[in-house]
Amino acid sequence: MSEIAGGIFTSHVPGIGQAIAKGLQQDPYWKPFFDGFHPVHEWLKREKPDVLVCFYNDHGLNFFLDAMPTFAIGAAGSYRHEDEGWGISGYKPYPGMPELSWHIINEVVREEFDPTMCQKMLVDHALAIPVELAWPDAESWPFKLVPIAINTVQFPLPSPKRCFDFGRAVGRALESWEGDEKIVVMGTGGLSHQLEGQRAGHINIEYDTFCMDNLSRDPEALLQHSSLDIVELAGSQGVEILNWIAARGAMRGSVTEYSRNYHIPISNTAAATMLLENHEKVIA
Ligand code: DHB
Ligand code: FE
Repeated sequence: MSEIAGGIFTSHVPGIGQAIAKGLQQDPYWKPFFDGFHPVHEWLKREKPDVLVCFYNDHGLNFFLDAMPTFAIGAAGSYRHEDEGWGISGYKPYPGMPELSWHIINEVVREEFDPTMCQKMLVDHALAIPVELAWPDAESWPFKLVPIAINTVQFPLPSPKRCFDFGRAVGRALESWEGDEKIVVMGTGGLSHQLEGQRAGHINIEYDTFCMDNLSRDPEALLQHSSLDIVELAGSQGVEILNWIAARGAMRGSVTEYSRNYHIPISNTAAATMLLENHEKVIA
């Protein structure tokens, strides 16, 4: 039987890709952020997950404002990253696992979710940066990827509860997969940030701390705010926490915090990295 071993949660600021390309990990500006990945590297080396299920938001690469799915699940044999104008390129393509993707799609549709099914899908910095951060020295990717994109960009946005429930349905689908793969889930983006307008640079340490404190022990506390509340609290891109909420929903065992790092700012963003462990399966 497959097993969800844990969840990695991290910001996906594109500038991190530039820092990686230039080898700036020890630079005083970047070091406090990159250091937060040491526990993630140790854990991945020990756990060696076979599958990565990554909840992220597309910023206009594969989907644009003319056709924006609320939830989209990749079912391709491989996925390419393309530069969307941030100057980051050259990432290795990610091997897919279409048979698991279709199992997830079948199960969540059976549970009355309506995802867009993508047999071709480009993935943007919101997936590529976290993967580079988590597996920095990989000559080839040691996992197969199921990418799941959530609309955090164009109103109306899904509610935090809908994202959590969707994540739980994905978690149930993973638990019912008959393979014996070890799975890690990922939620990318956040924490508080706003890139445009009069509030550009907005950061809310209190709300970010509330999210990090509750992510492992009481994720449903994050559902008390609407998506619009979150835009007000955390900024118009801070609402990327919806990806974290969905990924946390997929972890249905007893969940504990393994590591946490919070550093302000990286670019315009309150940068956070968390690793949660998922200890046992709950069948329900
Ligand atoms: C930044 C943050 C993001 O989440 C993003 O998608 C693009 C840019 C930033 O802080 O620069
Ligand atoms: Fe983003």
